[in-house]
Amino acid sequence: MSTDRVKVAPSLLSADFGRLREEVRRIEEAGADWLHLDIMDGRFVPAITMGPLVLKALRPHSALAFDVHLMVEEPEKQLESFAAAGADMITLHVEATAHLDGALRRIREMGLKAGAALNPATPPCFLDHVWPLLDLVLVMSVNPGAGGQAFIPEMLPKIETIAARIRSVGRPVELSVDGGIGAGTAPQVIAAGATALVAGSAIFHGREGLELIQAFKTMGGPRRKV
Ligand code: DX5
Ligand code: ZN
Repeated sequence: MSTDRVKVAPSLLSADFGRLREEVRRIEEAGADWLHLDIMDGRFVPAITMGPLVLKALRPHSALAFDVHLMVEEPEKQLESFAAAGADMITLHVEATAHLDGALRRIREMGLKAGAALNPATPPCFLDHVWPLLDLVLVMSVNPGAGGQAFIPEMLPKIETIAARIRSVGRPVELSVDGGIGAGTAPQVIAAGATALVAGSAIFHGREGLELIQAFKTMGGPRRKV
């Protein structure tokens, strides 16, 4: 039985935006797997965060995989610019596009990993016809738009359902969980089948700080590879 540790994707949203380059270096040195970049457009969610220029500026300073979470309307219009800026994985919300199939295909054509994100109230069946195009599913365990919110426990059975579906796909698809992840909730989402954890406020503002990255990796011990 092959085993693997959960991947950890610190969310830059909770970092000090006045010293992003230094924050990325700290994340990398602490053993993170991916750098999670939350892109908000002021329409899909009220907040506006950063665009491809920020990725492009950080790209030469980090070897981390750039895990881009597009919380934008019509994300299909933004794929090329984020790919050119250095994204390794692009995840878009199924609620934000009428062109999910086409957008996922485009991401893969560009040689990137393609992901689909589900808001808390969005059922897993939205993915029914795109499984061959998915490298990652992002389950939102808070409503998107801000860091520091409380984990929604009703997402645990949804994570279990999606994990079971992924096992039947027959190839690796990451199951990432985003929102309210900390020392208390991480073991629950890992037990439910998460293969990657996104965390912002717990890593940047929590008691354990960046040591939480290694702590997450030891939680649950070696687990079955999906
Ligand atoms: C929320 C973002 C998250 C956010 C998570 O819309 O998608 O990535 O940074 O923050 P925490 O870990 O603080 O819930
Ligand atoms: Zn996110």
